Amino acid sequence: MINEEIPDQGIRLRPATVQDGAGMWEVARDTETLDLNSSYLYLLLARDFADTCVIAEHQGKVIGFASGYRRPRHPEVIFLWQVGIHPAWQGQGLGKRLVGAFLRQPGADRASMLETTITPSNEPSRGLFESIARELDTDCQVSTCFAADDFPDAGHSAENLFRIGPYRPAALNRLAP
Ligand SMILES: CC(C)(COP(=O)(O)OP(=O)(O)OC[C@H]1O[C@@H](n2cnc3c(N)ncnc32)[C@H](O)[C@@H]1OP(=O)(O)O)[C@@H](O)C(=O)NCCC(=O)NCCS
Repeated sequence: MINEEIPDQGIRLRPATVQDGAGMWEVARDTETLDLNSSYLYLLLARDFADTCVIAEHQGKVIGFASGYRRPRHPEVIFLWQVGIHPAWQGQGLGKRLVGAFLRQPGADRASMLETTITPSNEPSRGLFESIARELDTDCQVSTCFAADDFPDAGHSAENLFRIGPYRPAALNRLAP
């Protein structure tokens, strides 16, 4: 089970519990970038997908989270659904450490490929995942996952699929705090 302290910052990386659902929803809202799903969904994620859901906590508050799941028909793939850092904590290396913890948690054990989707305009997210591919010394392949007109709600951007891997478990230590 992940339980890591980031030295000097008083930040703990740990698995989610149901009590974190509200804080995850608030962080997603405060990023003003992530798709804000219903608060009910974050509670379900924290309850039922806790093995693939990591929290960054500072002084008892959720300041970041990463959520995802193993693809049922492709268990070698760990899919990262959302990663969000509260704006006050962005740009300080926390996103990279959080994704590192996400990949080292029990729910990602024996996965060798990381997938996520990114809207083409999201430069910070692209920068984060390209940096992770470099740290893991592996490939980052980009293709279309969902086109804009796959979405029923007007104004939704396309989502590009980033496939990072294969990676070796030992390489994940490079993303440790
Ligand atoms: C994307 C996000 C999670 C990154 O977290 P972060 O803590 O700010 O990122 P880090 O400080 O760990 O930086 C990680 C890498 O991303 C790069 N990066 C960070 N911000 C960047 C930016 N604005 N433009 C380009 N690259 C950027 C950094 O250069 C770093 O790479 P390096 O270590 O090789 O230099 C954060 O900005 C965020 O929460 N954004 C809003 C929500 C979002 O868009 N989530 C992703 C979609 S699911």
